Amino acid sequence: MVHWSSILSLAGTALVSTATALKATAPEVVPGAFIAEFEEGHNTESFYNTLGVNSVAVNRRLQLDYKLFKGASFQLKNVSNVDAAAEQIAGMAQVKKLWPVRTIPLPKDTIHYVGTDKTQAKAVTSKRQSGNTTDTFSTHVMTQVDQLRAEGITGTGIKIGVIDTGIDYTHPALGGGFGPGFLVSYGSDLVGDDYTGFNTPVPDPDPVDHCQGHGSHVAGIIAAQAEGNLFGFTGAAPGVTLGAYRVFGCPEDGSAANDVLIAAYNLAYEDGSDIITASIGGASGWSEDPWAVVVQRIVEAGVPCTVSAGNAGADGLFYASTAANGKKVTAIASVDNTQAPALLTKASFTISNSTTDEFGWTAGSPATWGNVSLPLWTPSLNTADPAAGCEAYPADTPDLSNYIVLIRRGTCTFVIKASNAAAHGAKYILFYNNQPGVISVAADVEGIQGAGMVTAEQGVEWVNLLAQNITVTANIIDPKAAPLVLSSEANNVTGGFLSTYTSWGPTYEVDLKPQFSTPGGMILSTWPVALGSYAVISGTSMSCPLAAGIVALVAQVRGTFDPATIENALSATANPNLFNDGATTYPYLAPVPQQGAGLIQAYDAAHASTLLSVSSLSFNDTDHFLSSANFTISNTGSEEVTYSLSNIDAATGYTLDPDSIYPSLFPNEITTTGATISFIVDKVTIPAGGKAVVSVVPTAPAGLTASRLPVYSGYIALNATNGESLSLPYIGVVGSLHSATVLDKDVTYLTQSSDATFNPVPANTSFVISKTNGTTGNAPVIGITLALGSALVRVDVIPQGPSNATEILGVKSLGNIFGFPVEYQPRSGALSEWDGLLENGSYAPAGSYTLLVRALRIFGDRTKAEEYDSKETVQFTISYS
Ligand SMILES: *[C@@H]1O[C@H](CO)[C@@H](O)[C@H](O)[C@H]1NC(C)=O
Ligand SMILES: *[C@@H]1O[C@H](CO)[C@@H](O)[C@H](O)[C@H]1NC(C)=O
Ligand SMILES: *[C@@H]1O[C@H](CO)[C@@H](O)[C@H](O)[C@H]1NC(C)=O
Ligand SMILES: *[C@@H]1O[C@H](CO)[C@@H](O)[C@H](O)[C@H]1NC(C)=O
Ligand SMILES: *[C@@H]1O[C@H](CO)[C@@H](O)[C@H](O)[C@H]1NC(C)=O
Ligand SMILES: *[C@@H]1O[C@H](CO)[C@@H](O)[C@H](O)[C@H]1NC(C)=O
Ligand SMILES: *[C@@H]1O[C@H](CO)[C@@H](O)[C@H](O)[C@H]1NC(C)=O
Ligand SMILES: *[C@@H]1O[C@H](CO)[C@@H](O)[C@H](O)[C@H]1NC(C)=O
Ligand SMILES: *[C@@H]1O[C@H](CO)[C@@H](O)[C@H](O)[C@H]1NC(C)=O
Ligand SMILES: *[C@@H]1O[C@H](CO)[C@@H](O)[C@H](O)[C@H]1NC(C)=O
Repeated sequence: MVHWSSILSLAGTALVSTATALKATAPEVVPGAFIAEFEEGHNTESFYNTLGVNSVAVNRRLQLDYKLFKGASFQLKNVSNVDAAAEQIAGMAQVKKLWPVRTIPLPKDTIHYVGTDKTQAKAVTSKRQSGNTTDTFSTHVMTQVDQLRAEGITGTGIKIGVIDTGIDYTHPALGGGFGPGFLVSYGSDLVGDDYTGFNTPVPDPDPVDHCQGHGSHVAGIIAAQAEGNLFGFTGAAPGVTLGAYRVFGCPEDGSAANDVLIAAYNLAYEDGSDIITASIGGASGWSEDPWAVVVQRIVEAGVPCTVSAGNAGADGLFYASTAANGKKVTAIASVDNTQAPALLTKASFTISNSTTDEFGWTAGSPATWGNVSLPLWTPSLNTADPAAGCEAYPADTPDLSNYIVLIRRGTCTFVIKASNAAAHGAKYILFYNNQPGVISVAADVEGIQGAGMVTAEQGVEWVNLLAQNITVTANIIDPKAAPLVLSSEANNVTGGFLSTYTSWGPTYEVDLKPQFSTPGGMILSTWPVALGSYAVISGTSMSCPLAAGIVALVAQVRGTFDPATIENALSATANPNLFNDGATTYPYLAPVPQQGAGLIQAYDAAHASTLLSVSSLSFNDTDHFLSSANFTISNTGSEEVTYSLSNIDAATGYTLDPDSIYPSLFPNEITTTGATISFIVDKVTIPAGGKAVVSVVPTAPAGLTASRLPVYSGYIALNATNGESLSLPYIGVVGSLHSATVLDKDVTYLTQSSDATFNPVPANTSFVISKTNGTTGNAPVIGITLALGSALVRVDVIPQGPSNATEILGVKSLGNIFGFPVEYQPRSGALSEWDGLLENGSYAPAGSYTLLVRALRIFGDRTKAEEYDSKETVQFTISYS
């Protein structure tokens, strides 16, 4: 039986009084909308007929009549009676399981650069030499895609289903059309332009992405064509064909409901997709989420599914998102690109009136540049001076009105730097950056007509020329008319390391997440033509499609789509990475719950002759410690191979802050105390074509503070005499997840709908509720804060006088309030208003009550009262107007 709360507000933060800002929010649900899965032998018509017989009026949402999922989603017409109806429906013989419809927001990826509407029209510089097919795209070099491409592997004939905002197939680099024979050869729009995630989807056959861009960027990462591509890059697997399933409408803050996602996945499966990918996720941490369950079934049916791990790295450990957290679903983390590409405005410069070269820049504010050709002048020849230009210039400074002033970024504001230049007549300023990339600067100061920025590399080159008294003249074309240029500089700070935003696992049941990582930070790809044609974006949304493309390449070489074979090969051959916190690299491996198996190495995965029977091991927590684990090594090569086994620790991360029930925010405290792994035999010789089972005996690290739930991890290294070196990631938790507090009692209390800041109400507050018009008066509101996820949250109505209450989990209760219990909640803060309606569809009699909030602890038995964290509110009275 599943019910769902009508969440009034996502302002969980209003309830959080602790220093730990709880950024997590409860999943949003569509009030009164449900997904029913049918029992064997039942169908949509018999389901709706029975509803009719029982006088439950509904509007049909989606018919979910698929090979792997038979059910329907619908909207109750009478939303003042949701729970009673849900209870009745869940009890129908036809219904196997009923879930509320929840929504998943469009991922918030960081958009760094977007082309302009002139991008397609104007000539731009391409670093690519025509006729040279060597793949030098940095993300492909990082993942060995270049080496498979050098063998001619492109994923030819493979169909990849992309669940996203659609694809702008009119883009020449995305094939220029839709349907058989085109790159985007199948798919459909499940929702229509006006879909918000909460209103009724209006499907149509055309999955074009004309208003968002996310899906077009994803599609280019998988399969952009060199032909028609102004920058000459290709996707990882340009030989595949794509299926576009559009699940988001045009609203900027739009969402997709999970019934739509379930439909899209099933359609992509039934349309014959060999691989399905979705760069979409919502806060969860539970593999029982219905969308995750559907993706798991598709994987079990033989179709590899990649899902982005999520961009919630800031939230710390145990923040896996759905559907990536599904069992057998391949969750993809993000590393930063070793190159930081930028789409800049094109201009040129002349050295000593002779040689001319191009440069890229970004206009800031003010932007009244026009066409300007002036020599550069700089207040400081020291390119490492952090405070260059922060002080007033010396009196002998020349009149700067005939120069473009070149100033390093740093220490003081752009406005102060611009004011010092303007004091000597400057009209134009180019700042050069002190970190990778360029930003749009604001230097609105009297006298300044144009401000802009160039890269650090470009600024340093110019200053070095000026230091030799060489004249450098910048020839700026009015940025309103100038073409774009692609610039790229090395990212020496975070390039190749895990992106700080990448979400951390594991799930609350210690399933290892994510599986592995690919580049997702600072990625150049295609964008809808109408919105600028190209963009540079960061997010796990960008790493996931690269992994999907790589799955296609590996499948082509190995001749199989078997999800386990491919995931095991990718995992065993991935490269574990050192820990980097966004500024510094540390001399130890990043925790497995951040990076999974490490950075994918596509060529090694495609060609390794050694295969392992698993992609990872979880030793669970102390209560459920797995004292030994076994896996099989298969030697598919033509020679005998000896494997030496050893353990390599990764860093251990503390989940909880000291003396806190809350997980630490990134960067959480790290310790290098890892597990010890012993092997029954640590050297195994396997003949050509043979197999051997290896037994692993873990000893969890000692001396750690178990109450803070340290998550240890590492890699079992297999060094082979044939030159292959493989690694198998493992994970475990010290301490008892079952003992961890899930409910924050200090921020779980009764408040009221008339209080905009939701302060606790005093005891014996009286509420007069309008039954006929819901809760438009002042109604009780229960605020619930989960410090960790909970598989079941109840809110029992406890009468404080004579009643007909029955004993539920040891307490006399009228049952849950309307909308509860809720299942499989992420950590979150949520407010739920109560209008007196009970779970059974009747109203609680007028009288005096408390509400008893009970959140099931992790691994708890839901039939036992002591397995819940509970908090009882103050007493209050209700009456009805
Ligand atoms: C909706 O349900 C409520 C509660 O059961 C009931 O009082 C009301 O009459 C119903 N409204 C309609 C339009 O059926
Ligand atoms: C193609 O470009 C790559 C990288 O720039 C270079 O190493 C290679 O020699 C070139 N090949 C040909 C045939 O020009
Ligand atoms: C560059 O050309 C300008 C105008 O033609 C001239 O005044 C200036 O002296 C030249 N500068 C150098 C360094 O040759
Ligand atoms: C550049 O010119 C300045 C002023 O004329 C002079 O002091 C300096 O030595 C020159 N530097 C070089 C590298 O020629
Ligand atoms: C960054 O790395 C590149 C390639 O390794 C190197 O050429 C460059 O000098 C480095 N830049 C900085 C600022 O360290
Ligand atoms: C950990 O143990 C619990 C209880 O037996 C089980 O439900 C869960 O699936 C286990 N986790 C893993 C990854 O095996
Ligand atoms: C692993 O294999 C060993 C020896 O073959 C066996 O004793 C042990 O029970 C196995 N462990 C698991 C978890 O299957
Ligand atoms: C296997 O290789 C890794 C990485 O080179 C190394 O750290 C480890 O010590 C090697 N193990 C054995 C048993 O040779
Ligand atoms: C009933 O509720 C609606 C929606 O909140 C509100 O617009 C309307 O004014 C209310 N009517 C009465 C009689 O309170
Ligand atoms: C208990 O239930 C009976 C029968 O529905 C009802 O008459 C009575 O008023 C109820 N008592 C209380 C205290 O709610």
